Amino acid sequence: MTTSARADEGATPISGPRAAPYPADQLAAVYRVIEERRDVRRGFLPDPVPAEVLTRVLAAAHHAPSVGFSQPWDFIVITERERRERIAALARNRRDEYAASLPAARARAFDQLKIESILDTPVNIVVTCDRTRGGRHTLGRHTQPQTAAYSSVLAVAGLWHAARAEGLGVGWVSFFDERELAAELGLPGHIEVVAYLCVGYVSEFAPEPELSLSGWALRRPLAWAVHAEEYGARGLPGRPPMSLLDEVRAAVEPLDAAAMTAARERQDRLTKPRGSLGALETVSVQLAGLAGACPPPPAEPAAVAVFAADHGVHAQQVTPWPQEVTAQMVANFLAGGAVVNAIAAQAGAEVCVVDVGVAADLPQAPGLLPRKVRPGTADMTAGPAMTRAEAERAVEVGIETARDLVAAGNRCLLTGDMGIANTTASAALISVFTGAEPRDVTGRGTGIDDETWERKVGVVSRALATHRPDPGDPLGALAAVGGLEHAALAGFMLGGAALRVPLILDGVIACAAALAAVALAPDAAGYLVAGHRSTEPGAHRALAALGLRPLIDLDLRLGEGSGAALALPIVQSAARVLADVATFDGAGVSSAKE
Ligand SMILES: Cc1cc2nc3c(=O)[nH]c(=O)nc-3n(C[C@H](O)[C@H](O)[C@H](O)COP(=O)(O)O)c2cc1C
Repeated sequence: MTTSARADEGATPISGPRAAPYPADQLAAVYRVIEERRDVRRGFLPDPVPAEVLTRVLAAAHHAPSVGFSQPWDFIVITERERRERIAALARNRRDEYAASLPAARARAFDQLKIESILDTPVNIVVTCDRTRGGRHTLGRHTQPQTAAYSSVLAVAGLWHAARAEGLGVGWVSFFDERELAAELGLPGHIEVVAYLCVGYVSEFAPEPELSLSGWALRRPLAWAVHAEEYGARGLPGRPPMSLLDEVRAAVEPLDAAAMTAARERQDRLTKPRGSLGALETVSVQLAGLAGACPPPPAEPAAVAVFAADHGVHAQQVTPWPQEVTAQMVANFLAGGAVVNAIAAQAGAEVCVVDVGVAADLPQAPGLLPRKVRPGTADMTAGPAMTRAEAERAVEVGIETARDLVAAGNRCLLTGDMGIANTTASAALISVFTGAEPRDVTGRGTGIDDETWERKVGVVSRALATHRPDPGDPLGALAAVGGLEHAALAGFMLGGAALRVPLILDGVIACAAALAAVALAPDAAGYLVAGHRSTEPGAHRALAALGLRPLIDLDLRLGEGSGAALALPIVQSAARVLADVATFDGAGVSSAKE
């Protein structure tokens, strides 16, 4: 190394003696404490925490790494009852506010959760952050001011692990307005609250997070979180990265025949005439088969994912609606003012909106997942709507949306869509996958006149003649004549099917996407429930090809997920009947003579 070389310019690495790992038993103890650390909210004992134990735990926190070694934390130890009562009241208000914001099924589940133990624990510890500590030249914080708060969080982690090893439970409470709590604690303006921790001895530690035991949210598999080299190339170390699509295609399994047989047999033993629930019985058998359990789990909580995107084919005047309406409707969904919001609220489902390809830049908003692959497709009459790589990325957006919603505890997924001109792309896809003539599967969308309809049929025909999409190459077909929301919806269906949750389809856009999904993974068909029969002729053809019987036939042709949300209570009832209704033998009711 020359004298002018900087200290961080490495020389050629030479392998030398390695620092010794911990002896096996100590190593095991380290991993044990990491695995067994729990957020604890129940089962606290009133026993005081001795000062020396508390000091050891605080010392562990104080050993945390920090940006530029700035040690931005302080610890406020609270034991006074009156103060904790005032703080508990602050948390109660925020809890109520949050509860009021939840969809019905979530609100019911939340009601069962304990979210703080401020008064049940003998000690509360507040961990703070001073972003100004150390002056303006703090190493590292200069470029990333947020690293000050990250450092305080690491102090919390140290405290949490040490506490677990001491047999002390710790519960983190974040139901606070930060400034309201800061005022109660007398914090100077430059000091922020990072964590409010309730600490005390416990009778036992739960084996898994309480939120996972209650089904509120599930642990994501490690393989979902590890990427090789670049975001998106998922794979555990030592294994080749696998495309998300290939992984999910391989993970979609046929329905569980044993669970379906058990469901059929159970239906026949329920206190009702055999078969009297008609198609509801069929749905219940399907739900058992797809979950691999009889009775199947309840189909709640449920979430509608509205995939929004624009279409280059709009330039061919296939609809009287301006393209800006896509973005405007996204704003409406996010404000809660659209039809799908009303019906989903009635059904108790959450609505989330995924921007997979809206032409306009959309401002950030709660409930919006910004996943734009490209700002709208190209005009399919002039060239392919998108590249194959873009189609695959849109499929991946759908897969990841399904994974995230299921990891967040949802047990039923509903398809929604928004995209001016998307019935044109749907007609083209349905024609590709069913072999139907464009004329027979092109509908009137939002209600177009005869002249526009003729033009629309011509546009679909021209696009198909130009690209000649191969139904045996679903990704190629999506790229040629599909929409970004169709590709994402197909991924959403595959992602949900791989996780064994039911997918309720909305109308013609979902049906077109479902054809692509089933072409990608034929067993996915078993996980689809047709929410309703859209008036669009393409939907009829697609449902027939998919072998699906729609649950509702109310002349709907809106999209958005409205028909799927309307069908949700039917699907939920199917699961509930199988789980809740008494059997003849159980209830002592005589059955009909054979
Ligand atoms: C930043 C943060 C804030 C949290 N806030 C709360 C809270 O307000 N109420 C609550 O009950 N749990 C809260 N938790 C606990 C999480 O729900 C818990 O860590 C998670 O479910 C994982 O469980 P585990 O800690 O037992 O592994 C919080 C955790 C973190 C990291």
